[in-house]
Amino acid sequence: MAIRRSAKTTRRPKQSSQPWLHVKGAEIQEFGTVRMFPLGLSWDARMYSCQRLNQILADTQILYNLYKKHHWLMRGPTFYQLHLLLDKHAGEQLELVDQLAERVQTLGGVAIGDPRHVAEITVIPRPPDGAEEVPAMLSRLIEAHETILVASHDAARRAQEMGDDGTNDLLVSDVIRTGEMQTWFLIEHLVDTPLVEAPEG
Ligand SMILES: [Fe+2]
Repeated sequence: MAIRRSAKTTRRPKQSSQPWLHVKGAEIQEFGTVRMFPLGLSWDARMYSCQRLNQILADTQILYNLYKKHHWLMRGPTFYQLHLLLDKHAGEQLELVDQLAERVQTLGGVAIGDPRHVAEITVIPRPPDGAEEVPAMLSRLIEAHETILVASHDAARRAQEMGDDGTNDLLVSDVIRTGEMQTWFLIEHLVDTPLVEAPEG
């Protein structure tokens, strides 16, 4: 559909550097569709990968935001350590968000971007708007990681079966490895180990 210009802006001088303002246009590709890209991959494979990647992308965006929320709301004797750790993990998750989104685009699809759309399709449970106990915040992050890991293992295997090695590689080399490592760093904070006295000694 042609972009409509207002009568006012169409009268601008020929040499003007005035930008077009308030431009409106039609949606040119619907969410859930893929364009024909010459990648040596079938339409089915690209369509399937985009669908799985968008779900993982939505859940990863929520995980990123959970990390920032808990980075801000952290408290207690390990505040400083966890405050910094959660922000580091958030940054790494944000890189994955970008990689996942750009993989969807690479396959000819439409990456999920608007947080309101993300909220509609994520399967990560919504946390309370307030603050939880510190171990509950950490558990919530670990559970979100596991949800993404389970989906990523399955999607990686299916993508490889359909010939989409690039999606398999992204999920295995980046999403899964990062998620596993971050889970390890979180889970060690839930071991109740004495700091000074060794009771069995
Ligand atoms: Fe910060």
